[in-house]
Amino acid sequence: MTGNSKGGGNAGVRAVVALAIFIGLTALLFIYNPSGFYLWAKAIHVIAVISWMAGMLYLPRLFVYHADAEPGSEKAETFKVMEQRLLRLIINPAMMVTWVFGLWLAWDGFGFSGGWLHAKIALVIAMSGMHGYFSAAVRRFAADENTKPARHWRIMNEVPTLLMIVIVVLVIVKPF
Ligand code: HEM
Repeated sequence: MTGNSKGGGNAGVRAVVALAIFIGLTALLFIYNPSGFYLWAKAIHVIAVISWMAGMLYLPRLFVYHADAEPGSEKAETFKVMEQRLLRLIINPAMMVTWVFGLWLAWDGFGFSGGWLHAKIALVIAMSGMHGYFSAAVRRFAADENTKPARHWRIMNEVPTLLMIVIVVLVIVKPF
């Protein structure tokens, strides 16, 4: 581990505080306007989705460049910091908010019924699996233990893109 992990720890505390403030503000929104909360929840869900997807598309792109960087070089150390911060500050909280509000919308708006919703949830589970795979890769890169070539990460970069396209079509077109 490098000295960067300390900065990452402080950043982690800030992320938790930000999340707590966010949960408090959301609770206030619900208390003061329960009947209009569905649309607010959907807006928050979509904002979180955009943040999660931005990270899920950018992180494997960093891996592509990191895989070609000499271990121990200044470039490789910079990639480590970028990857760890992107994961902890953006991707992890955004995934949690997406899930919490997505499940709430599914329950409040649809009672968890609908073929499109079940298919969507299955694909979001697959997206979360990719998230876990990328998290493990961040840990391996941090320990200079990545064995996969840049080409592997270039291919992995396409998986969240394809999942995202099908998920958005399912929720907006609701074809079945
Ligand atoms: C974590 C599991 C998720 C669940 C349970 C879920 C569920 C839902 C539900 C029930 C809605 C409301 C649909 C409506 O009011 O017509 C919604 C909206 C939406 N979701 Fe998700 N979602 C999840 C994750 C995602 C992900 C990963 C994406 C994108 C990659 C996404 C993209 C969207 C979009 C774009 C909308 C707005 C659709 C519209 O207003 O027509 N969701 N979601």
